[in-house]
Amino acid sequence: MSTERILIIGSNGQIGFELAEALRKKYGSENVVCSDIRAVGEPIAPFEILDVLDKEAMLSILKKYQISQVYLLAALLSATAEKNPKLAWDLNMNGLINVLDFAKDGTIKKIFWPSSIAVFGPTTPMINTPQYSVMEPNTIYGISKLAGERFCEYYHQKYKVDVRSIRYPGLIGWKSAPGGGTTDYAVHIYHEALKSKSYECFLSGDTTLPMMYLPDAIRATMQLMDAPSSDVKIRSSYNLAGISFNPEQIASAIRKRIAEFTISYKPDFRQAIANSWPQSINDTEAQNDWGWKMEYDLDKMTNEMLDNLKK
Ligand code: SER
Repeated sequence: MSTERILIIGSNGQIGFELAEALRKKYGSENVVCSDIRAVGEPIAPFEILDVLDKEAMLSILKKYQISQVYLLAALLSATAEKNPKLAWDLNMNGLINVLDFAKDGTIKKIFWPSSIAVFGPTTPMINTPQYSVMEPNTIYGISKLAGERFCEYYHQKYKVDVRSIRYPGLIGWKSAPGGGTTDYAVHIYHEALKSKSYECFLSGDTTLPMMYLPDAIRATMQLMDAPSSDVKIRSSYNLAGISFNPEQIASAIRKRIAEFTISYKPDFRQAIANSWPQSINDTEAQNDWGWKMEYDLDKMTNEMLDNLKK
């Protein structure tokens, strides 16, 4: 019998959907409570409607299910956040502080909170970006993630809060849709390749970004959460490298399967966001501290994406 009782906040999102599946498999469905600001379709129980800014409602859910771990995934992503900076700051920061406070006062024991490559900015060395580097993000999303990282480390040092975090690269999966990020093109492209054999990309062909297939990201998350606390030496957030590629390269990988596939480019405001982020990441610390090892390269991911989306 599992002693962990988990709450996922933002379970309808791209990460939440796959993480819920994996955690329910591991801990038993009854021990993983999903929650989101609204229900989509008929959610699998246990499910609760929860606004991350409603601290009292959060507390009553934590108590009702005797929650020990929270995965806080609710956030506005980079592109959406640029359209509503104040809401993005409010949601991304105060949601996190609410959850950190419940760990500080002992209501919960452990937190997972995702950070992002967006914590880096135009003054960061862009190739093989190290864990510790210049961090001057110029998107509101990146600013909120960097401030969030500082809060996580602060609550760990000051109040011994067991919070763990990963700076996810752009995430790619077939089970769930991405929601308002700059890296979303790398999901849309597979859908369009199958549907219309062509894709108009909102980033230029040579825009290289770090990306990761969701099964790798979920495995990393669970591995980090399972690691002994003493192994988790970084309490801001861990770099994860993933696979670095640009739209031209993903298009070529798709052409190995769909020879007629064509891509065209029409960069929009998201180009500037992408240009401010690293092209590749160094994740030595994650490898050394908790044994991280990536599994999927571009071709392996492309095969799985196309096979599964076709079904
Ligand atoms: N993939 C996210 C985005 O594009 C970054 O964390 O917003």
